[in-house]
Amino acid sequence: SVYRATTTAPVNIAVIKYWGKRDTTLNLPTNSSLSVTLSQRSLRTLTTASCSAEYPPADTLNLNGSPQDIQSSKRTLACISNLRALRKALEDADSSLPKLSAHPLRIVSENNFPTAAGLASSAAGFAALVRAVADLYELPQSPKDLSRIARQGSGSACRSLMGGYVAWRTGELADGSDSLAEEVAPASHWPEMRAIVLVVSAEKKDVPSTEGMQTTVATSALFAERAQNVVPERMAAIETAIQNRNFHDFAEITMRDSNTFHATCLDSWPPIFYMNDVSRAAVRLVHDINRVAGRTVCAYTFDAGPNAVIYYEDKDSEVVAGTVKAILGPNTEGWDGAFYERVANVT
Ligand code: DP6
Repeated sequence: SVYRATTTAPVNIAVIKYWGKRDTTLNLPTNSSLSVTLSQRSLRTLTTASCSAEYPPADTLNLNGSPQDIQSSKRTLACISNLRALRKALEDADSSLPKLSAHPLRIVSENNFPTAAGLASSAAGFAALVRAVADLYELPQSPKDLSRIARQGSGSACRSLMGGYVAWRTGELADGSDSLAEEVAPASHWPEMRAIVLVVSAEKKDVPSTEGMQTTVATSALFAERAQNVVPERMAAIETAIQNRNFHDFAEITMRDSNTFHATCLDSWPPIFYMNDVSRAAVRLVHDINRVAGRTVCAYTFDAGPNAVIYYEDKDSEVVAGTVKAILGPNTEGWDGAFYERVANVT
């Protein structure tokens, strides 16, 4: 017989960025981070995990229709072996359970957005993989417990096992057992929140984030300042802003932290550039929209690539989403890729 579980996981976009590891195998971060989970109707990974004694002996993984070499992905192997060990412990404690831990696994995963778009696909991807296998194995662990495993796939993936506003606490222990994600507030706490995702370039990232953050850790003096002295205060302040649904403070902290993160990239040696001319046009436009509105109605943030995510509240969707789409379209000077935008609720 074949055992099977299917699940989806959302994309999350950090407003306080994770950048830098103190342990590169366990993906233990140098600073806490906080993200907003986007609606799965817009962006998600769909994953089916199955296992059977009748499958050929090796575990397999298929991503968007292409078979992957699991053996060369230490991160995928780490997630699978952690999940299998938890299942094995259940089987050892209850001999009536089928011995699924002994069966080869088959994992099939697909995104509902273009992978080439450079969106945070590894976060949703590893979160969906961990959730699907945990469901297949009927594991009792909470999303917070499972975030420890998803983190080993990709750091940011630990924040995609929960909805709403999610904090990933650095933790202090060397084994990473206290480096976990937790929900700060559910999406229903601030239902007006929206995000527009603007893909300004469909090209592959210049420097992959894993490699980029290692260069920053090794060479940037600004990096230590951000991790030790800037982020802790921002984490506390943005959590307060979220609790109070204070968009002005939420927006300012979000924009400042995106800028500080990209400043540490520029301060790396050799310097790393993720934002391009269109990204900078988006920054100027957001500040212009806020100035003309006479209050803060929108905020930008950029990950390890040129694409912009702009947060705003539903009541301001016309002035924000309307203006952004009208002005920052494919006619913008410096445009070098496909235009792709989606409005997402927080989920
Ligand atoms: C800029 O989670 O992709 O998006 O742990 O090496 O897989 P690895 O890195 P990854 O880095 C994400 C970096 C970021 C900021 C963030 O999502 O917090």
